[in-house]
Amino acid sequence: MAIDVAHYEGREQAFVKHTFLDKYLPALIGKVCSRYDEFVYVDGFAGPWKSAAGENFDDTSFGIALNHMTSQRLLYLSRGRNVRMRAFLVEKDPSSFAQLQRAVALYPKIEITPLNGKMEDHVAAIVASIPQESFSFTLIDPKGFPAIGSMMPLLQRQNAEALVNFMFDFANRFGGTDLIPALEEWLSTSAPDDWRKRIKAVSGEQRERLYEELAVQALRQTSGYVYAPVITVDKVLHNRPLYKLIFLTRHSEGLKVFRDSERSALDAQAITRSASKAKKREACTLMGDLFADGFDAVPNDRSTQVIRRSEEEASRRLQAMLTTANSGFCKWKECWPPILEELSVTHSWLGRHVNDRRKAGQISAPAWPSERTQIPRDEQQLRWNG
Ligand SMILES: C[S@@+](CC[C@H](N)C(=O)[O-])C[C@H]1O[C@@H](n2cnc3c(N)ncnc32)[C@H](O)[C@@H]1O
Repeated sequence: MAIDVAHYEGREQAFVKHTFLDKYLPALIGKVCSRYDEFVYVDGFAGPWKSAAGENFDDTSFGIALNHMTSQRLLYLSRGRNVRMRAFLVEKDPSSFAQLQRAVALYPKIEITPLNGKMEDHVAAIVASIPQESFSFTLIDPKGFPAIGSMMPLLQRQNAEALVNFMFDFANRFGGTDLIPALEEWLSTSAPDDWRKRIKAVSGEQRERLYEELAVQALRQTSGYVYAPVITVDKVLHNRPLYKLIFLTRHSEGLKVFRDSERSALDAQAITRSASKAKKREACTLMGDLFADGFDAVPNDRSTQVIRRSEEEASRRLQAMLTTANSGFCKWKECWPPILEELSVTHSWLGRHVNDRRKAGQISAPAWPSERTQIPRDEQQLRWNG
């Protein structure tokens, strides 16, 4: 069941995050079910938090995950595959935990373990109970900063992916102080001696990029992921980032699913921000006059601009990659992962872009299967003709 934007008034950022999960999780679980006998979902900071969907929890991360796990389990059972599905849901706050316990009954097809207390104290037992050959997805989504070192045993699992929320806005406000020991722990993993000095030396977008790099690098270097792309979730009424969702995967297939899901999240972000700003304008005639020129419309939103700039840059990178290929040719399966790793473009967009360039005569693609083929096959050789 699709998530309902009406449940997210005043917490539109959660709508962006949940749109990502709602698209990404069914795709991930579907792939996992065809190859693994067990899928484990770990929600370390589960909530429910400011849920407005009542007792069906459709606007919570665990509700979205458990609904998709249920549908995929039933789908695979109908195909004769009995994939075990388990979930560990950890929540510190006693009243949220009481709601979490009630929620368990809604998902009888999933083996759910609700755990009260701090995630930091439960990680070791959770990891110990997941067999090596099972696949796990971990969501780390606290309101502030987790003690990141204690999350590592979960992130370090080999058959695993994760989404980690880095509270950029808090970091940016308090990074100059030593008020947040968990931030200190996280960022000093990447730059033990000088992260604060480096941060102080830059400002604006450069500072934002540096925070992101340090946060990502700490996760990557300790847990050995190949890809760690990031979604920037913005404040609703201001053109500034609120938090960064860092995705961790060891496989290019994960990257592909990530970019599709990110696209839905960025579209949702552009629409909700634009609508919220319009609402605010209605309430303020003066601003209505100031911004009546469409400044805040969807095509001008920061998310839409990220997509537009990424597509332009992806086109340039592809050309550069093909022009500098050693043998003159480059296989498609070697072209797309480095581009998707850094830029917000989907696999299908890039594939169709290659096809457009092929039809325009700029790219040679020997033995292209048929004019109906839109996206290159993995082994397809490509060469830039200019
Ligand atoms: C941002 S909310 C989670 C939202 C949820 N992931 C979602 O998207 O629906 C963070 C939750 O973590 C809980 N929490 C805070 N610190 C915690 C800790 N150390 N261990 C477990 N839960 C914690 C809070 O009570 C709150 O319910």
